[in-house]
Amino acid sequence: MTAQIISGTALSQQIRQEVSQRAAALTTQGKQPGLAVILVGENPASQVYVRNKVKACEDCGFYSILEKYDADLSEATLLAHIDRLNHDPKINGILVQLPLPAHINANKVIEAIAAEKDVDGFHISNAGLLMTGQPLFRPCTPYGVMKMLEAINYPVRGANAVVVGASNIVGKPQAMLLLQAGATVTICNSKTRDLGAHTRNADILVVATGKRNIVTADMVKPGAVVLDVGMNRDDDGKLCGDVDYANVKEVAGYITPVPGGVGPMTITMLLVNTIEAAERNL
Ligand code: GUN
Repeated sequence: MTAQIISGTALSQQIRQEVSQRAAALTTQGKQPGLAVILVGENPASQVYVRNKVKACEDCGFYSILEKYDADLSEATLLAHIDRLNHDPKINGILVQLPLPAHINANKVIEAIAAEKDVDGFHISNAGLLMTGQPLFRPCTPYGVMKMLEAINYPVRGANAVVVGASNIVGKPQAMLLLQAGATVTICNSKTRDLGAHTRNADILVVATGKRNIVTADMVKPGAVVLDVGMNRDDDGKLCGDVDYANVKEVAGYITPVPGGVGPMTITMLLVNTIEAAERNL
């Protein structure tokens, strides 16, 4: 069996069209949605991500600003910039691209963002709201994964879901969203013994480790949905995920490609979160 491919590019296009219409309606009322993106330092991957985020905003008719600062920016100055954006009525969403330079305390920076403008959903109060089943903002990547499951009409309720990776950005919120949708959830981490014993039990397998080929075909249940959050480079410098795509697609029922899978959905759900923030402000 060859898996059906879930295209994040196609699904994104559909959702972004809807977002553009909602943005136009807000703009007509004098409330154009606005996103501020902050990048500190020159991390090459981060530079690409923020450029794509700002471009997606422009394409959907948002107001967007990109503030770039040198890597030696002080924590206090960054906090002052966030405070300014917290009070800027044109800005509905604030995103500080991670990782930050080592001398800046990322937790302190995230907590400084007004929770109602925290479109990443990383603020401690948004994490708490998600955990208690009353989410304000769902973190973009896990939210995008849920939209992909919805797009294939996958019956998440009662399914065995395994999340490989336990980060605050993806793994933990992903587990919460799947749990909320009625799945039985296992979270694996870098210390998990016999990873395959867990993954082989998964009807839904989300992989977010940053380790190429961590999931191979023998670790996948036939017919499973495999959602690959990884973004790595292979030996030829080509983009690839965490899953051994060529072989796993012969076992899985559905699979997301890299590139063109979860990646575009992350940006799309950032747009959705920003438009929701703007609509809440009406
Ligand atoms: N770095 C990697 N992924 C993300 C993300 O979703 N948001 C932010 N702010 N930084 C990231």
